Amino acid sequence: MCGIVGYTGHDNARDIIIDGLKKLEYRGYDSAGIALLSKGELIVRKQKGKIVNLEKEIADENLQGTTGIGHTRWATHGVPSDLNAHPHTNEDGTIAIVHNGIVENYMDLRKWLIEEHHVSFRTDTDSEVIAHLISVLNEGNLEDAVLAAVKMMKGAYAFAAISKSEPGKIVAFRKDAPLIAGLGKGCNFIASDIPALLKYLNKIYLIENGELVICTPEQIQILDQQKQPVKRDVLQVTWSLEDAEKEGYEHFMLKEIHEQPKAIRETLMRRLDERGKVKLDGISLTLEDLERFNKIYIVACGTAYHAGLVGKYIIEKMARIPVEVDVASEFRYRDPFVDDKTLFIAISQSGETLDTLAALREAKRKGARVLSVVNVVGSSVARESDDVFYTWAGPEIAVASTKAYTTQLICLYLIGLYMGDLRGTISDSYYHSVLQELKAVPEKVSAIIERANEIEELAKYLYNRDQVFFIGRGTDSAVAYEGSLKLKEVSYINSFAIAAGELKHGTIALMEPETIVIALATQDALFDKMYSNIVEVKARLAHVVSIAKEGNDRIGQESTEVIFIPECIDEVTPLLSVIPLQLFAYYVARERGEDIDKPRNLAKSVTVE
Ligand code: AGP
Repeated sequence: MCGIVGYTGHDNARDIIIDGLKKLEYRGYDSAGIALLSKGELIVRKQKGKIVNLEKEIADENLQGTTGIGHTRWATHGVPSDLNAHPHTNEDGTIAIVHNGIVENYMDLRKWLIEEHHVSFRTDTDSEVIAHLISVLNEGNLEDAVLAAVKMMKGAYAFAAISKSEPGKIVAFRKDAPLIAGLGKGCNFIASDIPALLKYLNKIYLIENGELVICTPEQIQILDQQKQPVKRDVLQVTWSLEDAEKEGYEHFMLKEIHEQPKAIRETLMRRLDERGKVKLDGISLTLEDLERFNKIYIVACGTAYHAGLVGKYIIEKMARIPVEVDVASEFRYRDPFVDDKTLFIAISQSGETLDTLAALREAKRKGARVLSVVNVVGSSVARESDDVFYTWAGPEIAVASTKAYTTQLICLYLIGLYMGDLRGTISDSYYHSVLQELKAVPEKVSAIIERANEIEELAKYLYNRDQVFFIGRGTDSAVAYEGSLKLKEVSYINSFAIAAGELKHGTIALMEPETIVIALATQDALFDKMYSNIVEVKARLAHVVSIAKEGNDRIGQESTEVIFIPECIDEVTPLLSVIPLQLFAYYVARERGEDIDKPRNLAKSVTVE
């Protein structure tokens, strides 16, 4: 969703801000803009569409300025247009703001500004009220005006403001939307997300809700709403600039698929001690805690939810505690049975997904213990959880999640093994055999990726179909949902996933000659049942692409094509079977010429409801 970058220093803010905005493109956006304090003037330029449009617009202007703010907008209120793009200014163009989030009471504020202050509005956005509020409430300095404005605003937001009368200063405020401040050399920054700043620095402050940041070239001050200084430790960022660059890959999605062996290994090895046992380092889950929990909720959105579906199978099998999995946007509105005997596991790559965050807060309010599985260190979900299990995937830039999913699965396996071991619900030998299998996964993932050309060929053959079905049983059904989501989000093909046993309760009516069915048949324990489902769709002349373990010599008899994954135990197949599906989605989208890393209408980090 919207991205914010601000710079104050001694170099040309224009280039630095545009460069930072490009690193936030992955969040999803439909317009971009920049405001610079330049030679006593406040200059604003904004443009619908991609950042290159904005660059073209200002290419012939010699825009100078050492302080500025920039924005990529993902439209919520008002269509994507030059006018609705940020920055927004007050009436006389002396104050500019960029905003991420939603000002929920913007209609009331508009009314108040029009009636009491005769303000004329120019845009359809909720954000414009912020510029006018700061302007009418400004009696001295920008920070006081910002604090006065946020007292009147409701909603979830982060915004930054600059004023013509206070050159060299950026004031930003956070309430429920991501905001960081970056410590440069002779310059300082604010931003929505770390990748925007990786080129310039590796020391940041995480800004908390209700905090104000005053940034000048010399210092960053963090204040609470009573203007009291807040002491904050500097966070050393471990991601490198290369992590956030394509490094020769055509798309981030392809790069991130290829990064999975490394990311899986990293996530796994960081949680194993010298005896080869799972260590929770800093997370306290005692036997007493586990005996107290009578239920585990796993709550997440999209791909993270699909990881949770696999997590249910794993944790229930290993720890023998009932697990419910829910999409975050449903969970909090249905008065779930949560109390102090509940362990709530939130899964989120970004750690900023508003639905997940809201569900987490609801669970906490009801007394649950919250453990989160998160990729972004210091993100909101991480900060608001009792304990955090980090995935070590590095920054995930493509909107379509790949390496976050497989590393989330690793965390869930480790949680399951840890709990099962502690509760005595699994044997020592089972514990060690699963760990051995997990350790072998990176190599097996590499082996699948090495055969990507087979999947590319399949994609070339099937890319122009308008409908694809994914079926599977057990954990294969969870992977089917993920494969289907991957395909639809990057290729825009209408895809549909269903537990294979459900086919004959309705969906089989859609089977026609040449209907594409991707059948996951990796579970030895369920193979005969799954085979029957494949036979059923094949009998309707469907084109069946099966995914099965190497050595399965029955599967070929009823499949049009088979993609083999390396031999492994049933438990760990989700880590392998998803790889061909990710590659399939990628190659199909590439054949169709789609904008793979930034699919239409989607945002990487969904910070609104
Ligand atoms: C996955 O490919 C999606 N783009 C999306 O479903 C994503 O997984 C979901 O929005 C959750 O995001 P999070 O992990 O950052 O919370």
